[in-house]
Amino acid sequence: MFNIQQTKSGAHARRVRMAETRPTPGKKLAHPSARGPRIFADTATIADIKPLFEAGIISGVTTNPTLMKKAGANSWSHATEIARQLIELVAPNPVNLELTELTEKEMVAQALQFAQWGENVVIKVPVGGYAAVDKSYDPHTGLKVIRALWEKDIKTNATLVFSSTQALWAANAGACYISPFLGRLADYAYKNDHPERAPGNSLYWIEDHKNSNNDQNVSNSEYVACGGDRKDIGPRLIQEISAIFTNYDIHTEILAASFRNFSQLTECLLAGADILTVPANILQKVCDHPLTEAGMATFFEDSKAFENNDRKALEQ
Ligand code: E4P
Repeated sequence: MFNIQQTKSGAHARRVRMAETRPTPGKKLAHPSARGPRIFADTATIADIKPLFEAGIISGVTTNPTLMKKAGANSWSHATEIARQLIELVAPNPVNLELTELTEKEMVAQALQFAQWGENVVIKVPVGGYAAVDKSYDPHTGLKVIRALWEKDIKTNATLVFSSTQALWAANAGACYISPFLGRLADYAYKNDHPERAPGNSLYWIEDHKNSNNDQNVSNSEYVACGGDRKDIGPRLIQEISAIFTNYDIHTEILAASFRNFSQLTECLLAGADILTVPANILQKVCDHPLTEAGMATFFEDSKAFENNDRKALEQ
């Protein structure tokens, strides 16, 4: 089971070696969350992002082709227009734009085009899966592109990360961020409930690498997602990555992604994530709680009573 005791000091040791997220040069009152986690909006919809950014709730944006489509993009020129508006709106904070080309040469060319749009552009590079699109594609394309972009001083975010080994290789290639998709792991675990088992080599129990089609593959999640009562496979992945990055002083930031609810936010923070990228519908409710609402209603009523008494006293 995911155990916060395992991450408490490890994540802290890593954070203090990294740059402050809210630096306060020249300020007498240092920011109390100078090394706190950054929160990004996981959407391309400007109408959602603008109020969240203005409220200081987010300090960055992540997009992907699906989110661009949801934001209304129906052509490349429209997607480009949305991307450029986002880049301007949140500058100098990062805007993550995902590559859609599938070969190293074309991906690097597309990345160079995106990077021209603003210094705050981060290039999202799928860590793998290329051969799944077409068997002739190089399965290591993502790592090669990350490496090539690091050599050109362009920041990358390795996306679609589902294992700590993918995270390690992306970091070794030069990724500034890695994005573990804990929500998709949790979705999988909920659908395929397996009893909790003792850990093997990893925090996951791998008893058989074959999937239901009898394909042999170490990443067959049917056998990896044992879930357990709390379906905590996502935070456990983040905990593993955090521990590995701490052990080797790797400064790649863990950008936890694919959230479905508030509990996952908390679990990720306890597991050692550096950044959370969160859908707008969750971010819009960060200050809500039924007891907060009840408390506010009472305080408001009681403060009105003071005013009424003052008015009555003046009238007499
Ligand atoms: C992150 O960068 C991704 O865009 C995102 O979190 C994917 O989430 P989903 O699983 O809801 O599609």
